[in-house]
Amino acid sequence: MTRTVVRVAEVRQEAAGIRALRLVRDDGAPLGPYEAGAHVDVVGPTGLVRQYSLCSPPHEPSSLLIAVKKEAASRGGSAALHTVQAGDTLEIGEPRNLLRIADAARHVLVAGGVGVTPLLSLAYELDRRGAEFELHYFARAREQAAFADLVAAEFGARLHFGVPRAEQPTLLKEVAADLPPDARVYTCGPEGFMAQVGAVFAPVVGAERVHVEHFVAAEIDTSGDRPFTVELDTGEVFAVPADKSILTVLGENGIEVFSSCEEGICGSCVSGVLEGEPDHRDNCLSAADRAAGDQMALCVSRAKTPRLKIELY
Ligand code: FES
Repeated sequence: MTRTVVRVAEVRQEAAGIRALRLVRDDGAPLGPYEAGAHVDVVGPTGLVRQYSLCSPPHEPSSLLIAVKKEAASRGGSAALHTVQAGDTLEIGEPRNLLRIADAARHVLVAGGVGVTPLLSLAYELDRRGAEFELHYFARAREQAAFADLVAAEFGARLHFGVPRAEQPTLLKEVAADLPPDARVYTCGPEGFMAQVGAVFAPVVGAERVHVEHFVAAEIDTSGDRPFTVELDTGEVFAVPADKSILTVLGENGIEVFSSCEEGICGSCVSGVLEGEPDHRDNCLSAADRAAGDQMALCVSRAKTPRLKIELY
């Protein structure tokens, strides 16, 4: 995996428990542009790798911005990034994108808490294109809402602070009622929040037009897992037992696959499917990608057929 050493040029307290880090290259070379919606692996001071959305303007090449929420259950990833100071160095991976802007007459961005970060880059890009869009930002309180003033001033975002989870669907239904059927919805936030957003908007625009960005792996029931065979496009064949992933089996056989989270959320291990039917267990592919059946996340997804033929990207 290609990594780039970057220097922390600025640290800003964006909201309670959320720091924004501006990253630059020491040699002055550009870090961007990047595709709106993208995220990067960040190797923190403890060596742990975490994924963070890029939230600077995507077309601005000189620096990248990430926002780090200090997680209560941090095992050293986000907590360590809350100790870095301006001038410190970090390593980042290449931007990867699972939340691309797709064609639509109107775009609705629905953020929950720090989930605003990938949507901020979408807003910059939609604004640059002159596209029709609206941004709704839910958070417990203003002091916990990173970039709230920015999105309100730049994009006229509607700020919904302190709205109880049970009351949010009523508000969202008012937004959905005005949408043309070819609108698209993009959401990022806690899993339950995104499930509510999907439940409101999918009946209006179709589930394939509701795009979600996950940061937490789904709970997976592995009790019924069965062994299967995986064949590479090079002709090599491997047995995948019930208790191991394709990624693990390939690694044990000396075949290096680009990977990061190993939980089905970052998309870095996604590879092509040439034959057979995958059993998708990830949170990174869209509903349309899954339905196409021509790619899968090797770290968590399995096979519905006795054999899969795949090609590594
Ligand atoms: S390694 Fe992150 S999705 Fe597989």
